[in-house]
Amino acid sequence: MDKKFRKTVIAGNWKMNQLASGVPAYADTLKAGLAVGAQEEVVLCAPYPLLPALLAAVDGTPVRVGAQDVSAHDAGAYTGEVSAAMLADLGVTYCIIGHSERRAYHAESDALVNEKLKALLKNGVTPIICVGESLEQRDAGETLKVVSEQIKNGFADISADEARGVVVAYEPIWAIGTGRTATSEQAQEVCSFIREYLAENLYDWDTSKAISILYGGSMNGKNCAELLAQIDIDGGLIGGASLKPAEFAGMVKDGNEDA
Ligand code: 13P
Repeated sequence: MDKKFRKTVIAGNWKMNQLASGVPAYADTLKAGLAVGAQEEVVLCAPYPLLPALLAAVDGTPVRVGAQDVSAHDAGAYTGEVSAAMLADLGVTYCIIGHSERRAYHAESDALVNEKLKALLKNGVTPIICVGESLEQRDAGETLKVVSEQIKNGFADISADEARGVVVAYEPIWAIGTGRTATSEQAQEVCSFIREYLAENLYDWDTSKAISILYGGSMNGKNCAELLAQIDIDGGLIGGASLKPAEFAGMVKDGNEDA
């Protein structure tokens, strides 16, 4: 089956939660419940100041550490920004870009997200590029149009070889933090569309089949297995439930069984 071509990625997005002092206890609970298969990546995306503590706490485990944003610039006079080289230098191997919260609250455009994607690839950090529609857009029947635009612009000037090193996360905005998960059929429909779009419009089927496409939006220990069972859903980008280490470890187990 297609899934053997790509990794299952179970990624937590802590957003602006947690403190460095809480990281060791979190990691202990996670490690106690963790069983990671060979075809699986477990990633925790933490706020910048928590990255060193998290890297230390998961050292020697299969857990990878990610950031939640990055500067599009290499270096220079950009007060408050953090470069991809700085993340790589710390040992950070993943980074979320284009999260809907950044698109909404920081006016991030597709073009900026594309610049960030390039900055990460240049520095060997795996981008997790988020796409997804608002409730108004879904109700207006615009979901596939919105998502294909975000994918097309996000992957602009990216070669097929580079695209294989990118993770896509489909996160419908109406499902984020609302407790209203997309049904597995809704999530599969859009993830399958993204794969087809990558294959038919931007690259080819070999490339598209190698790209992990995650679902995100109120994913939790209860609905995770059913979502991961869908053929085009290769993992999850998990917000609230990733703050609970025992629940997150259980979701990793679901991913393990599905990989
Ligand atoms: P929730 O899982 O809290 O809905 O958040 C999803 C998300 O935005 C992950 O990036």
